[in-house]
Order: sequence, then C-alpha cells, then structure tokens
Amino acid sequence: MIGDPYLPGLFVGDAPRDQGVDALRWDQQFGEEGSGGHVSTPGAPRSADDQYRISVTPSHDVDEDSGAENEIGPTGRPYREVPEPTPLDRHGPATVVAVCNQKGGVGKTTSTINLGAALAEYGRRVLLVDLDPQGALSAGLGVPHHDLEQTVYNLLVPPQVETDEVLMRTRVEGLDLLPSNIDLSAAEIQLVTEVGREQSLNRALHPVLDRYDFVLIDCQPSLGLLTVNALACADTVVIPMECEYFSLRGLALLTDTVDKVRDRLNPRLTLGGILVTMFDARTLHSREVMARVVEVFGDAVYDTVISRTVRFPETSVAGEPITSWAPKSAGAKAYRALAREVIARDSRST
Ligand SMILES: Nc1ncnc2c1ncn2[C@@H]1O[C@H](COP(=O)(O)OP(=O)(O)OP(=O)(O)O)[C@@H](O)[C@H]1O
Ligand SMILES: [Mg+2]
Repeated sequence: MIGDPYLPGLFVGDAPRDQGVDALRWDQQFGEEGSGGHVSTPGAPRSADDQYRISVTPSHDVDEDSGAENEIGPTGRPYREVPEPTPLDRHGPATVVAVCNQKGGVGKTTSTINLGAALAEYGRRVLLVDLDPQGALSAGLGVPHHDLEQTVYNLLVPPQVETDEVLMRTRVEGLDLLPSNIDLSAAEIQLVTEVGREQSLNRALHPVLDRYDFVLIDCQPSLGLLTVNALACADTVVIPMECEYFSLRGLALLTDTVDKVRDRLNPRLTLGGILVTMFDARTLHSREVMARVVEVFGDAVYDTVISRTVRFPETSVAGEPITSWAPKSAGAKAYRALAREVIARDSRST
C-alpha cells in the first residue's frame, strides 16, 4: 500500500485530493504483469485558445541575479561544483529524459521548454516531445498546434507515419519539436488493444535518436499509458515539483511507478533529479517544504531551484522560451544552471 511517507503523521484518510492527480494504482491500470484494461480519461485542453491570445511586450530585461556560487543555495546546501559544458564535435545518440509528475501545474511544460532551450544554447541538439493532448508545449513554442495534420498521435497509432513527417524546427536554433494537439487524447484508448502498446513512443523515437544529444518528453498530468510510454523509452526521469506542501503527496506513487517501469519494461531508467519549482525564498513555508524534499531525496534534488515569477506565464503568451524572451532574467539563468547540472549528470556527456 502506498501511503504518504513524505508527510509523516499528517493528512491521512480525509486528506483533500490533489488537483490533477490521477491516483490510480499501477495494478488497477495495467494489471499485475503490466497488462490489463484501465484507461484514464484524458483531460480537456486547458491551453489558451488562439482567439483569446493576448499580446505581451517584454518588460525591460534587467540583469537579475540568480545567486553567487559557493554560497548556501536555496536547497539549504552549498552549491555543488558543476563544470562548464564542453563544446561537442559530434552529436548523438540522445539521452532521453521524461519530464514527469502526475500532479498538474507543477512546471513540467515550462521546464521542458526552457531546459531544452538552455541545452540548445550550450550547443546540444535537442528534441522536445509534446506528450500531452493539451498541447501546451507546442503552444509555448508558438506552434499553431490546433491546425496540425500530423502530430505525435500519428506516430503512435496505426497507420503510423514517419517521424520526420511530424518533426518541426522551432525558432530556437538546435531545438526541434514533435508537436501534439487534442488528437492525442484518443491515443490512450486506441493503444490499449495494440501489441507492445507501452513501447509505441520508443519505436517512433528510435529512428531519430542519433541526431540529438537530448530528447525531452513533456508528460501529461497522469500516470496513464502515455506517461508509461515516456518512462518506457527514457534513460532518466526529471520530476518538477512545486514548492508547496501538497506537492509532496503523490511523489511516492510516482517513484513507485518509476520503479515498476524499471522492473518490467525499461531496466536502464534512472531518477535524473527532482527540480523544485515556484520557490519563494521569502516564505517559511517554501523553506520548510524544501528542507523536507532534500531530507527525502538527498542528492537527487538539483541545486538549481526555479523561483516563482510572472516571467514564466509571460513567456507562454509570447510563445518562446525565457532564455530568448528575457535572456538576463533570473528565470533564464536558472534554466541555464539546470542545463549545466543535467549535462554534468548525463553519463553520455562525460
Ligand atoms: N517558476 C514559475 N513561477 C511562476 N509561474 C510559473 C512557474 N513555472 C510555471 N509557471 C506557470 O504555472 C502554470 C503551470 O505551469 P506548467 O504548464 O509548466 O505546468 P505543468 O506541470 O506542465 O502543467 P500540466 O500538468 O497542466 O501540464 C503556467 O501558467 C506557467 O506559466
Ligand atoms: Mg504541461
């Protein structure tokens, strides 16, 4: 039985449920041997429709400080030394990273876009995969995803198309995209009857892995079949978590799912790291949650912490990463620091 080991003695039994949490257990969804019938209901699209699109003007891009090195960082630990990434003279094969948390609105999509853009700034070739029918990743990169004929859906569900037919360049050099839209919500139901349904994304990505250094998969807020597909083809999983008390709930379920996918589908899957997002150093609450996260996950917690700032919602409207929208902002610097940590932890980079 999975309890809430990260919240000892609190909120047991009558706990309010997390918004967006798909609390279904692995066994309920996939049966004991990873086979079975439950399919979670895909959520309705929540990204802003184009007709509601508002225009934003970049506020003056002041040089915001993100904290000096060799000091105690927001995690309460001294910053660990992270080397400057070395330039690459050849590319691939890619390390596949699933950006995953079944809790909604914790910064998965924001982190996928901005980590991807920061890795590209360091000369890495990056492919972003939108594995959420909301299409927020595609929208966040300015892609009119509602109108696309070929999306990730067409890579997963027969008759499949070639991956190159769906692949798109973005406005950021070195950053490509496999876009999605609401069509993908049907995939989870249609895949149920397919043989090797957990490996559908793996099969689609395989032909292009040699071209990229990193593939980042933006998962939807559930632990359904699409997310299992991401975990089944990933080398590592990065878990963004909002620095807020209830975010700790559900992490046991997530790490349990990662363990099960490792045991049954993908033995090379590792926990890449926990990324604390929407941190507010001024509040005792944020600092207390951070202390608990570090106590539970130790070194897996990235030294880089993403602070809460209105700059991120702005970038979603602008349809570009913060690294180009506000390159000197603390948010841009934080995602560059995260990219350095991700490269340093990547076994293929060293
Ligand atoms: N560090 C931050 N500070 C303030 N707002 C943020 C931050 N990171 C993300 N946001 C905003 O919070 C909202 C949710 O972020 P995001 O879409 O990245 O989360 P998500 O985990 O992908 O959500 P979902 O589960 O719905 O896919 C967005 O409006 C985004 O702009
Ligand atoms: Mg998202």
